[in-house]
Amino acid sequence: MAMAMACLNPLALSPRQAYGGRAAPRRCCSVVVPTSSARAAAGRCRWRLAAVAEEPQAVRQQEQQQRTEGSGEAGAEAAADASSKLVLVVGGTGGVGQLVVASLLSRNIKTRLLLRDPAKAVTLFGEQDESVFQAYKADTRNAAELDPEIFEGVTHVICTTGTTAFPSKRWDGDNTPERVDWDGTRNLVSAMPRTIKRLVLVSSIGVTKYNELPWSIMNLFGVLKYKKMAEDFVQNSGIPFTIIRPGRLTDGPYTSYDLNTLLQATAGERRAVVMGEGDKLVGEASRLVVAEACIQALDIEFTEGQIYEINSVKGEGPGSDPEKWKELFRAVQ
Ligand SMILES: NC(=O)c1ccc[n+]([C@@H]2O[C@H](COP(=O)([O-])OP(=O)(O)OC[C@H]3O[C@@H](n4cnc5c(N)ncnc54)[C@H](OP(=O)(O)O)[C@@H]3O)[C@@H](O)[C@H]2O)c1
Repeated sequence: MAMAMACLNPLALSPRQAYGGRAAPRRCCSVVVPTSSARAAAGRCRWRLAAVAEEPQAVRQQEQQQRTEGSGEAGAEAAADASSKLVLVVGGTGGVGQLVVASLLSRNIKTRLLLRDPAKAVTLFGEQDESVFQAYKADTRNAAELDPEIFEGVTHVICTTGTTAFPSKRWDGDNTPERVDWDGTRNLVSAMPRTIKRLVLVSSIGVTKYNELPWSIMNLFGVLKYKKMAEDFVQNSGIPFTIIRPGRLTDGPYTSYDLNTLLQATAGERRAVVMGEGDKLVGEASRLVVAEACIQALDIEFTEGQIYEINSVKGEGPGSDPEKWKELFRAVQ
């Protein structure tokens, strides 16, 4: 039994084995340092990230944005608050998720990732101190993997998981909208301790009208229906929540196999934000804006229990200025 466990346990693997028999990427090979724990023996693990990886674009973009748009006083307040939070990001290797993580890290907010492949965390986010950044391996479709240890000390959760609306390679292994958007989100919410101060869930516009054209086309494989089911589950969970419904996502990192990916669309001059209540907006939303909305919502009390739809339009944006975001969220109400 002990031997079988050792084989399953990634902590027991050499760097080469951990990368499936391939040589580990050079910049990571000596630096994914698993920390052993009792739970690790059951196949769950915590990975310490100490890679000297190239600074990912997401981090550079965020830092640039914050340098140019961050506000002094609000920045100081945010810094004071930063140390008291531990934000669990689920979907942190995805488009919006990467930007969320990069942005949290650049604000010195303690961040924990829940992800299927911890090696991706090293590649994407590079060298990080374990006291501010940890990664836990889990697949949200599998409730048994959502160990309480993952949530220990977590104060806030941002969930940006998703898969493609139509069959693609990302459905491999049954990673379909039903399994990710419904089963996965339901499992995640069910596993969360009731002490979580806020869960921000990224959903989508169109979820309330998936039977109507043109949304019914997008919903051919159920993505909007399952996202709505997940929203309802969150709303009834008793956990303080904020739901963000973005329009079609634009801007990198380009992780989706969709039209946007092919066109490599960018928000360009569309840095301004339009927010609404309900499900009326039709349009695009920059991933940068969606990521920022998730982070800002954590700190704005009156966003609790609310659902916001969000689009990007031409004009100057709120950047990361908390006061401007407060105004945007408040205007909706
Ligand atoms: N694309 C659009 O136009 C659009 C429009 C409106 C709303 N949305 C929604 O907005 C959100 C963010 O979109 P995005 O395009 O930025 O995301 P994305 O790049 O598709 O990233 C999805 C994330 O979910 C993770 N994930 C998938 N299956 C998982 C599983 N079984 N267990 C744990 N993690 C899993 C992926 O991790 P891996 O690295 O392991 O795959 C990845 O980190 C999604 O909910 C999406 O549906 C998208």
